[in-house]
Amino acid sequence: LKVKTTYETSPNIALVKYWGKFDEEYILPLNSSTGITLSTEDLQTRTTITLTNKYKDIKFLLNGQPHPVSGRLKKILKFFEDKALAALGEELVPLQEGESQDTKRKTLKEFLNGDLSQLKLKIKSVNSFPTASGLASSASGLAALSVCLFDVYHMKEEYEFQRSVIARLGSGSASRSIYGGLVEWTGVPHQYLQKKFESKNNEIQLSEQEYEQLSKLCIAKQTHNETFFEDLDVFVVAYSFESKEVPSTSGMLQSTQTSELLKYRALNTAHVHIAGVKKAIEEKNYNELARLVRLDSNQFHAVCLDTTPPIFYLNDFSKNMINFIHQLDSALEYHVAYTFDAGPHAVLLVHKNHTTQVLRAIYEAFSINDMSSLSQRAQQTLKQA
Ligand code: DP6
Repeated sequence: LKVKTTYETSPNIALVKYWGKFDEEYILPLNSSTGITLSTEDLQTRTTITLTNKYKDIKFLLNGQPHPVSGRLKKILKFFEDKALAALGEELVPLQEGESQDTKRKTLKEFLNGDLSQLKLKIKSVNSFPTASGLASSASGLAALSVCLFDVYHMKEEYEFQRSVIARLGSGSASRSIYGGLVEWTGVPHQYLQKKFESKNNEIQLSEQEYEQLSKLCIAKQTHNETFFEDLDVFVVAYSFESKEVPSTSGMLQSTQTSELLKYRALNTAHVHIAGVKKAIEEKNYNELARLVRLDSNQFHAVCLDTTPPIFYLNDFSKNMINFIHQLDSALEYHVAYTFDAGPHAVLLVHKNHTTQVLRAIYEAFSINDMSSLSQRAQQTLKQA
C-alpha cells in the first residue's frame, strides 16, 4: 500500500531581505520581504514522498543520507496528521482503472483496520546544489516538502493558502519558494511592531485568535510572474561550499534581541524598498532596481554587524565583489544589482544585453575559470538521485 509524489522547487533569493521574527512559534516576520525564485536545474531540490504502511516510523533521507527529523518538520507533519489524515484518509489511495471510490474506501479501511495512523512517510530530498551554505537550500527544501505533502495527502483547495503557511513553519523564506517570479511575503502590521518594540524585553501578549489572524495575513503571494524578468539574467557567484557559521534562524534571533538598526529597518525601510523594487520592475528601470537591491542587501548586512555579538556573512571575496560592481557602474553606464544572503555568495541581476560584458569583466577580475562547475555538479547529483 503506498502513495507516492515528487516535486521540484528552487530557492527564492530575497531582493528585500527578511530578517527577524515577530513570533518564533508561528514564524511571523517582522518585516515584509520580496524575492525572485531562480527556477533552474542548477539550483533545485527534488523531493519524493511516499506514504505507506510498510514502515514503523518516518524515514527522512537528505542527499542520500538519513537525517534527523527536526522539531520544525515534526510541527509540519502534525498539521497533516491532525487535519489531512483524519479528514481525507479515505481518499488516499489512487483509484485503479475500473475501481470505484466506494470499493477503494472499503479496501483501505479494511486493510488498516480503520487505523490510519499506521501510514508513515518516507521523505527523500536531494539538492542539486550545496546544502546549508547560504544558497537558500532550506527555502527550496521546505517548499518542495510542503507541496509534496499537500499532494500526497490529497489536501483540498480550501487549504490552498495553507501551502505557504506550512512551508513557512519549516523555514520563513520557504514560503516565497512555493511560487515562481517575484514573490512577496507580508510582515506583521506596524501597530504590532510598535507595541513589541516599546514593550519590556520586546515581548507582547496576544490572544490565540490574534495569532491566528496574523498567521493568515503573513502569507506569501506572487506579485509579478516570470515574464517580468525576461530581460534579466541572474547569476550566483558562489565563493565556497562550506556550511555557514551562524545559521539564519539563530542569527536573526540575535539581531532581533540586540539590534536597534533592525527595529529601524522593520519600521521604516523594508516596505519602502519593496514598493520601489516593484515599481522599478514594472517600469523596466534596471538602474533603480540595482540601487534598491544593493541598498537593501547592504542594510541587512549592516543589521548583522549591529548585532551583539556581530555577525559577519560577507567575507573578503564578497567585499571585493561589491567594490568591483560599483566600479563597473561608470565603465558600463549600466548598473548591475548585487545581493548577498546569509553567506558570502554574490547573486547578480544583469540585463541580458550586458551579460557577456559583465561576466567577462568578472571572470578576468576574479580569475574564475571554473564557470560551469555548479551546473555540471547539479546534473550529476540529480542523475544519481
Ligand atoms: C538572509 O528563512 O532561512 O536569506 O525562517 O529561521 O528558517 P528561518 O530563516 P530563513 O532566513 C532567510 C534569511 C535571508 C533573507 C531572505 O531570504 O529573505
